[in-house]
Amino acid sequence: MRHLLSTRGLALDEAVHVLDVAEEMAETQLREVRKLPTLRGKTVVNLFFEDSTRTRISFEAAAKRLSADVITFSAKGSSVSKGESLKDTAQTLQAIGADAIVIRHQASGAPQVLATSGWIDAAVLNAGDGTHEHPTQALLDAFTLRRRLHGADSRGRDLDGVTVLIVGDILHSRVARSNLWLLSLLGARVVLVAPATLIPHGAHGWPCEIRHDLDEALAEFRPDAVMMLRIQAERMRDAYFPSEREYARQWGLDSARLSALGSASIVMHPGPMNRGLEISAAAADSPQSTVLEQVANGVSVRMAVLYLLLSGERAAGGAGERAQGEKEAER
Ligand code: NCD
Repeated sequence: MRHLLSTRGLALDEAVHVLDVAEEMAETQLREVRKLPTLRGKTVVNLFFEDSTRTRISFEAAAKRLSADVITFSAKGSSVSKGESLKDTAQTLQAIGADAIVIRHQASGAPQVLATSGWIDAAVLNAGDGTHEHPTQALLDAFTLRRRLHGADSRGRDLDGVTVLIVGDILHSRVARSNLWLLSLLGARVVLVAPATLIPHGAHGWPCEIRHDLDEALAEFRPDAVMMLRIQAERMRDAYFPSEREYARQWGLDSARLSALGSASIVMHPGPMNRGLEISAAAADSPQSTVLEQVANGVSVRMAVLYLLLSGERAAGGAGERAQGEKEAER
């Protein structure tokens, strides 16, 4: 793996390996001193052209805990707002000596352009591009699911036999797309649930089932997890549903649906949440909710990805042991 642009096209052993290395990283985060020397001397640039809270601070924390130097760059307040192109921005980062560029961009495909342009030598990590993909979010979601469902000893395991409902604004969601590819690769059964207007045209060819009625889908599939998606009003130029009230009534995870789901099933949301719209406060704050766990796991998963891309450890196999070796050396 030289870049991480998408989850589509990942190999199964590659994906499981990232999750296993993330387990090693999570263990290091329980220690009193959480910092590892692994990426000392490397420079990671966070290049954010779109707003972000969780993803940006999570990548920053991950890089810092691996002792990399971190430069966080947001397009607002930079020369991008003076019209500087992606190429000139990238070449500036190359001149500074960036080893990895974490990019979030409103255009689907921007990270791909950066990775294949020849402008830079750095590893490119997609932190969300338009409505296309958000691979580290899917990896942290899969990690969260695997830990919750398989317990402490989830290493080496996939998600065979697990059923996940992804509910809401699929049309605008890069999180839904990255999760669909990754979860189905890991053997999970994926069901998309949304009003017909929020299902993308191509979705009928995807490895998933599609339903439009949330109550029926909950009864039919008895899912292990429901992943609620934010209504991305900022990407909507048309009316996709009659009103927010109507949406919440039909597709929101309210208290009645939370109890229909049962206490063994988990409630996920990538954040930021619209409380009272796609998810009720009761569901978001329930013991089944993994919202904050997802955020915490995001740091371990991003540490794993940065480590795999930057430590020279490319091949699948061996990275976990090396992380272990480093931990020992550090003790
Ligand atoms: C998501 C994103 O930006 O794609 N958020 C995130 O990264 N945690 C989802 C969203 O904005 O709704």
